[in-house]
Amino acid sequence: MKAKIDVRALNAWFRTTHALRDVSLTVPENSVLAIIGPSGCGKSTFVRCINRMHELVPGARQSGQVLVDGQDLHARRVDPVNLRRRVGMVFQRPNPFPTMSIFDNVVAGLRLNGVRGDYAEVAENSLRQAALWDEVKDRLQQSALSLSDSSSDSASPGRSPSSPKSCSWTSRRAPSIPSPPRRSRS
Ligand SMILES: Nc1ncnc2c1ncn2[C@@H]1O[C@H](COP(=O)(O)OP(=O)(O)O)[C@@H](O)[C@H]1O
Ligand SMILES: [Mg+2]
Repeated sequence: MKAKIDVRALNAWFRTTHALRDVSLTVPENSVLAIIGPSGCGKSTFVRCINRMHELVPGARQSGQVLVDGQDLHARRVDPVNLRRRVGMVFQRPNPFPTMSIFDNVVAGLRLNGVRGDYAEVAENSLRQAALWDEVKDRLQQSALSLSDSSSDSASPGRSPSSPKSCSWTSRRAPSIPSPPRRSRS
């Protein structure tokens, strides 16, 4: 079967902490891989190496190779921002954009991807599907930081409307907010 992700002799460090040692594995396309292990064993670091978020951590480095669809992620023509559109990651803790309102967080994926449409309607549908509408409908313009952790979980980017990913990783239960029906672009 065709390899979606191919990891070859991957090592990762945070300064002197050697977090991943010689990890090699192949993930076939259209398959689900679960990585299970105790806290601190390197699960999140592994995922961050697959969407090039590891390199954003000061003092972090890595060696080895990661290929997605046969493409080496560190090849010169790979744009990390585009890569992260395809290789999504749902974080253990919700991460609403702290300077944005609840409303802006819910529609952030659409805005960033240039998808036009009736954002008010999309936001309402999304929040209703997440059973949050009644809780937040009167304070959509308030900071997303005013949400409780569990509510913010459903309203944060990655949980709210966003473009489909070709690979998704979650370090927690699956996102609780379903994607809204596809809308025609206007
Ligand atoms: N930002 C960081 N700075 C320094 N060390 C880190 C950082 N993130 C993770 N680590 C260390 O790397 C190792 C792997 O952590 P992590 O990938 O978060 O494990 P897991 O997701 O399995 O709980 C641990 O020893 C952890 O302390
Ligand atoms: Mg983790």
